[in-house]
Amino acid sequence: MLFKAFIVLSTAVSFGRAVTPWPFDLTTISAPDGSVSAKFVSFGATLTELWVKDKNGKARDVVLGYDDNSRLLTDPDHPVFNPIVGRYANRIKNGTFSIPITKLPQPDGPNVYHIPTNDHDGQVTLHGGIYGWDRRNWTLVSKSPSSVTYKHIDAGDEGFPGTVTAYATHTVSNGGILKSVVRATASQKTPIMLTQHVYWNLDAFQDGSNDILSHHLQVDASRVIDVDGNLIPTGDFINVDGTPFDFRKEQAIGARWNDTFNLCGSGCQGYDSSWVYDRSEVSRTGTSLWSDLSGIRVDISTNQPAVQVYSAFWLNTPRKAIHGGPTLSYGRWGAVAIEQQGYIDAINTPEWNVDQIYYPGKNFEWSTTYKFSVSK
Ligand SMILES: *[C@@H]1O[C@H](CO)[C@@H](O)[C@H](O)[C@H]1NC(C)=O
Ligand SMILES: *[C@@H]1O[C@H](CO)[C@@H](O)[C@H](O)[C@H]1NC(C)=O
Ligand SMILES: *[C@@H]1O[C@H](CO)[C@@H](O)[C@H](O)[C@H]1NC(C)=O
Repeated sequence: MLFKAFIVLSTAVSFGRAVTPWPFDLTTISAPDGSVSAKFVSFGATLTELWVKDKNGKARDVVLGYDDNSRLLTDPDHPVFNPIVGRYANRIKNGTFSIPITKLPQPDGPNVYHIPTNDHDGQVTLHGGIYGWDRRNWTLVSKSPSSVTYKHIDAGDEGFPGTVTAYATHTVSNGGILKSVVRATASQKTPIMLTQHVYWNLDAFQDGSNDILSHHLQVDASRVIDVDGNLIPTGDFINVDGTPFDFRKEQAIGARWNDTFNLCGSGCQGYDSSWVYDRSEVSRTGTSLWSDLSGIRVDISTNQPAVQVYSAFWLNTPRKAIHGGPTLSYGRWGAVAIEQQGYIDAINTPEWNVDQIYYPGKNFEWSTTYKFSVSK
């Protein structure tokens, strides 16, 4: 079906007719100094490949994904490989919120909105609903050799109020830098929380490496958002002191692995939590990740207040060929997803006084810089 659609579209394009472009066409951008190059598809404004140099000067593709990117649409177990996630990333309790926000919005109360639930047996909305921004056909609006911009008009996707117009711009530059920025405007009051959901493996599955347990992680955060069994905030914070959440000094991700049973949900070993950054200046590095094996290091800075780190317990998807697929699959702990974002479900946690409501005159901006280097 999809293959047929591709033929039809290609033919139509060759006759110059105005047709919807195939959302899985690749756009490649490269830094002039060759330090980083990246590929994107307009579907979800998704990063599909990211090539950076290892300690021997050889480029590796350090993000997970598919060879056939149409699987971003068709894979029922899609792990959310590196798109822009919206209109509201992470979880919403019972898919319900009100404007103005309240602690326990009554289902039939005034200005109460219900978003389809798709997580934890229908008790939770994850990543903006069943067809969030990661599963929408964005439009390519401009590109240059080192930058690409996609646009999505969300006219009430999944039942959120009003229309949100978003532009996502991905730019690579000299010195090993990838910067992604998303700017959004709203036609009426609506919650907005976005993220870029990147799955990293800095060894790119070479040299016998299959998981990220020996990757080093450093997070400038002394608090983690406390959550219930559905990974919904309780309103409290966990002080990381003396816990396996303490990455203020770098630690191997797996250093305290036996203390992480059930930490990422029932039956799950590893991490799936949101760290609240301590740093006051946006320019400061919030999260760093590196591997001794490849020598590749990424330092991440962001204008967002928190970072979700998920060590991919539930991963089970055929790998890209460059990572040994399709014979081999991405499996348990094969990657770590690092997502710069706001406070989880602050729209149902008024005691935090975190304002995530946007409207005409109050625009949203998400920005994150990934700086690559090698540690020898
Ligand atoms: C959850 O939302 C649904 C509507 O989507 C509503 O019928 C139900 O009462 C809500 N549950 C709670 C506990 O508020
Ligand atoms: C996105 O594009 C794909 C492929 O052309 C198509 O099957 C799908 O229906 C489109 N999605 C939306 C929401 O328009
Ligand atoms: C972790 O747990 C496993 C299985 O329960 C055990 O075999 C192993 O020795 C433990 N490792 C450490 C470092 O305690």
